Amino acid sequence: MHLTTTLLGAVAALGDDGFPNPNPEQLKKIQNLADGTLSNAPPPAVAPKASSFTAFKLIAMNEQFEVAFFTSLIKNITDNVPGFELPSSAKKDELLDILETVLAQEKLHAINAQKTLAKFNQPVPQPCVYQFPTTSVYDAIALAEKFTALVLGTLQDASQLFAKNGDFGPVRSVASSLGQEGEQEGFYRILLAKKPSEKPFLTTNVAEFAFSALQQFIVPGSCPFDVKTIGLPIFPPLQVLTANGGADIETRNQYLTFKADLTGIEAAKKFYGGDGKGLFVTYFSGQLLPFSVPVQNVKWAGEVVTFDALLPYEENDMDGLSVASLTTADKFAAPGEVVGATLAAPGLVQVDDRTKAWDQNLKI
Ligand SMILES: *[C@@H]1O[C@H](CO)[C@@H](O)[C@H](O)[C@H]1NC(C)=O
Repeated sequence: MHLTTTLLGAVAALGDDGFPNPNPEQLKKIQNLADGTLSNAPPPAVAPKASSFTAFKLIAMNEQFEVAFFTSLIKNITDNVPGFELPSSAKKDELLDILETVLAQEKLHAINAQKTLAKFNQPVPQPCVYQFPTTSVYDAIALAEKFTALVLGTLQDASQLFAKNGDFGPVRSVASSLGQEGEQEGFYRILLAKKPSEKPFLTTNVAEFAFSALQQFIVPGSCPFDVKTIGLPIFPPLQVLTANGGADIETRNQYLTFKADLTGIEAAKKFYGGDGKGLFVTYFSGQLLPFSVPVQNVKWAGEVVTFDALLPYEENDMDGLSVASLTTADKFAAPGEVVGATLAAPGLVQVDDRTKAWDQNLKI
């Protein structure tokens, strides 16, 4: 779509397109803004396995959150909300043009997952009410870069699950959307003066951690269904207290400080008040198998624990995103095995050398 059409359509696109359930005419408009259509491949002949449906529900919920996020960001930039002003109208037009397209593309990602669920008479999650912690365009792009990195890991888990379940039908379209989210990620990273390509093999993640992370953006109790029915556990967050909530970690070995509220977590009870023996921080980084380091300097305030753990950056070239979890074990043969030993997750650790800006004007 051309810039002017997009800008004229910007405000309208925020409302009247029927999302998440557009009629055929509204869908056409979304596809037009998205620069492409939904797949027209027929649904798989055999119904996917139950756990594959869980993955589609998570994908739908996650994409619906992203739709709300980009809708809010576009509105803030359009309205020149303080903190969301761009240095020039050309810069503003350019960013809005790109984000409008991204928004429509995210809508189609959500609709794609919803359609698969509907086809097999599964409950289709409808949008919740969302809350965002960001109050500036820079922070919003940084958050988009962070949650997109996590999505890029989570879609690996979905493909792996579909393959394991013998549900090969959706693999091509998941891989297609994974690359698409990667294109977005490169753009956000450039805006943040990070190298666009993060790692040779992007950091993996698991569905359970993605679902847990999503909860912080959902106004509690606001979903028009019980979130427990999705069938994924919700872990308390593992907060990273070092370097801007883990977003700006330096490229060297160092101890990071973490915090987790373990109130009411059954498996954590025997650790309450103790010295942290038997507790570990386990990292996902790239395609390395999960690796763990012991916690140190453990302090309890009731059932809230604060501790330090090594970030073994140098041995593992941990540039970009690492996904940390607080675990009761330290030997894992696959990412999925970490879930059963987890007390709190995810903690998002981002290590990046900033590039020398090759175009100062790109700075937002
Ligand atoms: C839009 O601005 C409001 C008001 O500052 C803020 O609360 C909200 O988080 C912003 N949205 C995004 C996506 O940053």
